[in-house]
Amino acid sequence: MQVRNVAWTDFTGIAALRMGRYDAIANDPNYGMVSNPSKPTEAELAAWFGELQRGILEGKRVCSVAVEDGHIVGMAGVTPEGRSVETRHVGVLGIEVLAGYHGRGIGSALLAHVLEACRGRFDSVDLAVIPENPRAEKLYRKFGFVEYGRRPRAFQRGGTYHDFILMRKAIAP
Ligand SMILES: CC(C)(COP(=O)(O)OP(=O)(O)OC[C@H]1O[C@@H](n2cnc3c(N)ncnc32)[C@H](O)[C@@H]1OP(=O)(O)O)[C@@H](O)C(=O)NCCC(=O)NCCS
Repeated sequence: MQVRNVAWTDFTGIAALRMGRYDAIANDPNYGMVSNPSKPTEAELAAWFGELQRGILEGKRVCSVAVEDGHIVGMAGVTPEGRSVETRHVGVLGIEVLAGYHGRGIGSALLAHVLEACRGRFDSVDLAVIPENPRAEKLYRKFGFVEYGRRPRAFQRGGTYHDFILMRKAIAP
């Protein structure tokens, strides 16, 4: 397994990872990624990927991918909190490993890689995780993320509400 910066040529693999999320949610209602009920179209995925690449080229975003046997099996990205120069020193983390590859150290390798890429770009990285996602919470605590609050009933899926645990890690310059 290799972890590296995302490349333009990763679109197909990343699109497959994004689409796999819908099966994962169908199998596990507590699957931790926030999603929409309907799948994105290929055009919407392409627009999203173009925005990601634009952010990377402008030095505003970072994104790492995990590759195994030539296939993308995970990705982790950090995006500025807002568009304003007054808020963009805070990054927001998103991380997802393909279902079937969980618990093999891929998330840990991705998080280490993307946090290293955050140095010099963000002062801190924030995230939100539901309490029903202990694997993710354990991963974040292992990397020094500290809980700073909770947002009650911030996330609902199928009528079931979940709190968000809010966590932050300072990034060394
Ligand atoms: C959360 C996620 C990114 C973690 O990636 P991963 O490759 O499964 O994580 P790792 O294998 O590196 O394991 C991370 C830690 O979780 C622990 N862990 C594994 N299974 C666990 C479980 N069922 N409960 C609690 N901790 C668990 C591991 O022991 C490891 O800690 P350790 O290194 O101290 O032993 C991945 O599971 C995933 O994509 N989940 C679905 C999407 C998601 O929830 N994203 C995060 C949204 S906030």
